[in-house]
Amino acid sequence: MSDFPAFPRHFVFGAATAAYQIEGAVHEDGRGTSVWDTFTRLPGRVRDGDTGDVACDHYHRHPEDIALLKELGVDSYRFSVSWPRVQPSGTGPVNRAGLDFYARLVDRLLEAGVEPAVTLYHWDLPQALEDHGGWRNRDTALRFAEYAAHVAEALADRVPRWITLNEPWCSAFLGHANGLHAPGTREGTPALAAAHHLLIGHGHALRALRGAGVREAGITLNPDHVTPATPGPDDTAAALRAETQRNLMWTEPLLAGRYPGSEEDTWGELITRQTFRRPGDLALISQPLDFLGVNYYTPSTIRDAPYRQPDPQLRTADDNRYAAVPRPELRHTAMGWPVAPHTLHELLVSLRDRYGDALPPIVVTENGSAERDEPSPDGTVHDTDRISYLDGHLRAVAAALADGVDVRGYYVWSLLDNFEWAEGYGKRFGIVHVDYATQRRTPKDSFHWYRRLIAAQRRAR
Ligand code: NOJ
Repeated sequence: MSDFPAFPRHFVFGAATAAYQIEGAVHEDGRGTSVWDTFTRLPGRVRDGDTGDVACDHYHRHPEDIALLKELGVDSYRFSVSWPRVQPSGTGPVNRAGLDFYARLVDRLLEAGVEPAVTLYHWDLPQALEDHGGWRNRDTALRFAEYAAHVAEALADRVPRWITLNEPWCSAFLGHANGLHAPGTREGTPALAAAHHLLIGHGHALRALRGAGVREAGITLNPDHVTPATPGPDDTAAALRAETQRNLMWTEPLLAGRYPGSEEDTWGELITRQTFRRPGDLALISQPLDFLGVNYYTPSTIRDAPYRQPDPQLRTADDNRYAAVPRPELRHTAMGWPVAPHTLHELLVSLRDRYGDALPPIVVTENGSAERDEPSPDGTVHDTDRISYLDGHLRAVAAALADGVDVRGYYVWSLLDNFEWAEGYGKRFGIVHVDYATQRRTPKDSFHWYRRLIAAQRRAR
């Protein structure tokens, strides 16, 4: 560890989670139904039929989880607020009991010396809003801003760091184009409308946060590191379409106040015939950010491919004539994701090179790996693969810092093993092992490694 690069003095080390993945208690204290409650009940959509009904029971066990954060020594804990706990049907009066849970959580974190960082939207849309079109409907963006205002009113005096949306690409494309996430549909233009309305929701919510006096607000994206499989023109064009969907359709409006020039080649008539954009939208979306949250896990190698659906009427928004090329030479995590830490360094540098002064400071709001953890009889987990994954990616962040990229923090995903969406509980990302039968938490070797790393950085400060 002594050879670990030194991070800047005020660099924030953290750990992250999300409400639906850990809280459970889905019927308690007036919580409403979210799209994930609905989706997990659709047969065959989530591995083994898992649901977030109990998850890590964090709703009841959060004091124990805060004690773990304190032991870990992180500066900050990133969690998400469940919209249907605060507004059970997505609109109307606040459900006090729901909001009070987060107020207690925040107070206890502060008592433990851990700064709270709130994500307002980590995918659990109130089902009642979905019943009115969800993110396909522009009105949802306004409802989101109202909800943001309620949460900020209650917590802005004690929560320094705010994130409007987590990975809106997932909400739009996994949710509405390939159907792997809630609400689980396969659509064309409506998926692009959802993407746009998520950005509109971000813009309105940002205004609400500013109105409540928040001074550190951002959005978290999951930009991909895309490499064409060959340098030829077809693969290069396909890689640009992939980058348009994963990166440019988000970063261009947010950071440059424009739609990507490559969108027509990516979506054709799905975008040229759209009617969801309005004058003033780009100004709303491109308000200054205090930081850009970057979640990063794995790179993509992309080749040209035909449309999967030949009939343009039936085409989904993710049918963009490209395909991922396998990388058998790389190690893969339990998710089947190739591991290439240097690509995080390259991604951070490329964001800076593309946007220059228009790029706000970056916070790595998630990075981590699901591994085939095998607890020893005493419950300990010797997760050397996870340690080497985290070590490699933290070194990549340090390399980006050395190249002059302004990175302000790093949050490991995740504090706890948890509900990994369509993969259910089978995939474990935690640095703390959770035995779901007993809810017993056992810190893995990676927890102790991260704890020592943070302590060493502190000593060097
Ligand atoms: C990103 C998401 O924000 C998080 O919810 C998820 O568990 C991790 N990626 C791992 O897939």
